Amino acid sequence: MSQKPKIIVSVTLPPDLRDRLAASCDIIDVPVGQRPEEVLSAETRAQVSGMVCTMKTKIDTGLLEALPALTVSSNFAVGFDNVDVAAATSRKVLICNTPRVLDGAVADVTIGLMLCLARNLVAGDAFVRSGAWTKGAFPLTRDIRGKTLGLLGMGRIGRVVARTAQAFDMPVIYHNRREDPEAKGLATYVGRDELFKTSEVLSVHIPLSAETRHSVGKRELSLMKPTAYLINTARGPVVDEAALIEALRAGSIAGAGLDVMEQEPLPASSPLCELPNVVLQAHVGSATHETRRAMIDLAVNNLLDALGGKQPVAMVNPEVWRARA
Ligand code: GLV
Repeated sequence: MSQKPKIIVSVTLPPDLRDRLAASCDIIDVPVGQRPEEVLSAETRAQVSGMVCTMKTKIDTGLLEALPALTVSSNFAVGFDNVDVAAATSRKVLICNTPRVLDGAVADVTIGLMLCLARNLVAGDAFVRSGAWTKGAFPLTRDIRGKTLGLLGMGRIGRVVARTAQAFDMPVIYHNRREDPEAKGLATYVGRDELFKTSEVLSVHIPLSAETRHSVGKRELSLMKPTAYLINTARGPVVDEAALIEALRAGSIAGAGLDVMEQEPLPASSPLCELPNVVLQAHVGSATHETRRAMIDLAVNNLLDALGGKQPVAMVNPEVWRARA
């Protein structure tokens, strides 16, 4: 019988990484988004000690009970709202993720959405393609230079957005649970309401949790200027989408740039698809060849390190690792 650890792979791996994993582990493939407890036999599940998966795998009590020998699960994502971290920690299952390597790519989409909204670039493209230009000029748009950028959340991605915004001469303000010493000289800390009231562009950079779900709601949107744009490249459910649609329809804010939505993939029947003051992307913040490669490298390294007894680079619940030592 093989002595290699058995691992679930529920992510598409580049061939070289698959070979690397196969050299030291027995791979059990589970199609992305399918629940291991539904597709694997109890006998197989009982032997699984590691897993690498996407956000589509819900790591909850049901899954943890179905994989009693699991010691580590490595998320191919920086976000981990697919994981019940408390349940994993209490079962001593180490959770790993992929921070840092995607900060620049997500910040780029944030800035891109901001430019698309203020300069109406998506409508401008359609205007030229349709021949409308031959009948008249495209309507004037708005500058982002000099406008105040507000960041709800100042973590790794928020800091890169703030640095990039400096090149656009944008004063940056932010609100966090705590003032961030690393943001000194980059952005000014303000109260939460002041952030919504003052920002010309308000960009969301907080993780999804029970506390942050719908934390940008009717009240917050009503504080915003009618000229302001909301950008969300974090997680859809942080924003109350029904309240956002209402604000966009009423013109109480100028527009929204969304890379994430409450329901993904977003159906074409969503009212968001009807609104002219919205720019939509398909949750592609980190979706470049370079960044996704760096993420999968990190996810696989985290898994192999943990299985091999070496401290992984990125752990969500490091207390599990410390307890092992
Ligand atoms: C993407 O949304 C991620 O969390 O990595």
